[in-house]
Amino acid sequence: PIINVTTRDGLTKAIEGREGDSLMENLRGGGIEEILALCGGCCSCATCHVFVADDWLSALPPMSDDEDDLLSTSGVRQANSRLSCQIPFAATLDEIEVTVAPED
Ligand code: FES
Repeated sequence: PIINVTTRDGLTKAIEGREGDSLMENLRGGGIEEILALCGGCCSCATCHVFVADDWLSALPPMSDDEDDLLSTSGVRQANSRLSCQIPFAATLDEIEVTVAPED
């Protein structure tokens, strides 16, 4: 299954995703190093922040209170913000489109 990602410099890349790994792990594994993921995926750093194409939002697992709280501390949060470490990647998300959030 494919993840379509737009980087901060506006380039688009298609990554072959691994099911079971988080979206964050897949983005980093696909070479998107601007997803820093400083906390390693434990929902405490917000450096894995992405914007999810609106059509895909409803396909994602609901946001936990922890994710919501952490995103609330971001100065660049949008309605379609998610923390990519909190999204398990699955075949149902084939062709998902995400954009790396600007540095906060
Ligand atoms: Fe730190 Fe996602 S990797 S919150």
